[in-house]
Amino acid sequence: MSVGATKIPVVVTEVVEVNSLIKRFRFVREDGGEMPGFSGGAHTVVEMDDGGTRRLNAYSLMSDPAERSGYEISVRRDDTGRGGSLFMHRHVKPGMRMLISPPVNLFGLDLRAKKHLLIAGGIGITPFIAQMAQLNALGARFELHYAARDRELGAYMTELSARYGDRVHRYYDVEGQAIDLPALLRGQPLGTHLYVCGPKGMIAWVLGTAGGMGWPKGALHSEEFLAPPVGQPFTAELAVSGITISVGAAQSLLEAIEAAGVEAPYLCRGGACGQCETRVLAAEGELLHHDHWLTDEQKAACGHIMPCVSRFKGARLVIER
Ligand code: FES
Repeated sequence: MSVGATKIPVVVTEVVEVNSLIKRFRFVREDGGEMPGFSGGAHTVVEMDDGGTRRLNAYSLMSDPAERSGYEISVRRDDTGRGGSLFMHRHVKPGMRMLISPPVNLFGLDLRAKKHLLIAGGIGITPFIAQMAQLNALGARFELHYAARDRELGAYMTELSARYGDRVHRYYDVEGQAIDLPALLRGQPLGTHLYVCGPKGMIAWVLGTAGGMGWPKGALHSEEFLAPPVGQPFTAELAVSGITISVGAAQSLLEAIEAAGVEAPYLCRGGACGQCETRVLAAEGELLHHDHWLTDEQKAACGHIMPCVSRFKGARLVIER
């Protein structure tokens, strides 16, 4: 996907306040047609014009993949972030026209699995809502373990329990409830695949525990999109384009490249997919790597940067773009 990729013109038909932090949005095609098909775990990139700043944020699709009349996403408000979620919460209203990307799935189900064990933390529930609809339609075996801070912030817990009964297990931090992960993992039949989506610490805990217990890597799936961090402004020279760009404090390097009219590839815009990887030709200063795509060795070698989330501090940065 890139600046030139085909976008889908949509109309916002519904904005629902799910709780004090989360709103749900429904998009339908402006031309009244069907949305492109997707599978559970896919995301779309929503384009926003935030006071002259073009923001592109990725959100998991949570609607039923079999239902092609529209897409639904949920957005958790981040009061200290760069503004994308605040824009969605404050400015996006029913009737508004927007552009979204065709769906991309970097967190797909492995349908060869004998059973699907889904572990969600907080807003990490959204891809699982679509995945459970898909698994249920297929008659596949699954169970969800969903942890939230408290009952108010446990978005969709009641609805999911009503829909899927004892396949949904709920945990509230403030009530001292926690997933007994070693026991849960020990009790799974051979051929189970494990999926986790939530905060960074939770993903590391789940994958680390499963890995330590001998679960095969191929049976472990995770999704963590980082929001591009704010930071100090810096400049970057684009060697192929022959221009120098300024990257603002609340702008990612990728957004600054795009704002200069230079095409750059991306899929997740959250440091996870590897699509935006760019060669660093010179760096007089420090590359601030925020992605979880490059290895520690690659980060230390300073030969590449993921412009969707990573930044720079220093006198001169030259990248191959
Ligand atoms: S766009 Fe996915 S890592 Fe940058």
